[in-house]
Amino acid sequence: MLKVAILISGRGSNMEALVRATQEAGFPAQIACVLSNDPAAKGLEWAAAQGIPTAVVDHKPFGKDRQKFEEALHEKISTYGVQLVCLAGFMRLLTAWFVDQWQDRLVNIHPSLLPAFPGLHVHEQAIEYGAKFSGCTVHFVRAAMDHGPIIAQAAVPVLSDDDADALAARILKMEHKIYPQALRWIAENRVNVHNERCFIAGATAPEPIVNPQ
Ligand code: GRF
Repeated sequence: MLKVAILISGRGSNMEALVRATQEAGFPAQIACVLSNDPAAKGLEWAAAQGIPTAVVDHKPFGKDRQKFEEALHEKISTYGVQLVCLAGFMRLLTAWFVDQWQDRLVNIHPSLLPAFPGLHVHEQAIEYGAKFSGCTVHFVRAAMDHGPIIAQAAVPVLSDDDADALAARILKMEHKIYPQALRWIAENRVNVHNERCFIAGATAPEPIVNPQ
């Protein structure tokens, strides 16, 4: 069983999807803890109600010293014997120091088809650009924001009358599918990184799709 920490800062719907997946019989990973940098993160309560250990490492007392905060976070995570860290709406940029501690054992989900539309206001960016598809990406984390070997992606159409909320909701549904899927692949040891590309053992090719008329 792969032992996993989930880091959140907010509502935690991806965390919930990961936890629910691991509650299914035979799932090869277990959630050892849910941590937040924000004591008010909504997802903490839900996780605790599931019987999952939760903890808060508040970034505020550390001021601008990002690494000191990350050292405290790293120490806390380490107390749970964790082998993989999943970021799920964790709203702190992580320094190279933290990323190095967890090389290829630190995963993030981002609500666009990276490398398109990194950063914030992702859905506004996709709509403004006129992209016909957007989606979500699960990737190993590197020091550069929203960057790193891609493990899984899902594409959804961008419709002509979409606003950011409508597009976000369509993408979020797919996030809840591909994050547990990616976690399963990792836990099954099927994900290999070579030259900054992920190769998934036994993966099958999806059908090409065309944007709606
Ligand atoms: C998701 O859209 C995720 O892709 C992004 O932050 C959001 C977190 O939502 N990194 P939730 O807290 O998982 O509901």
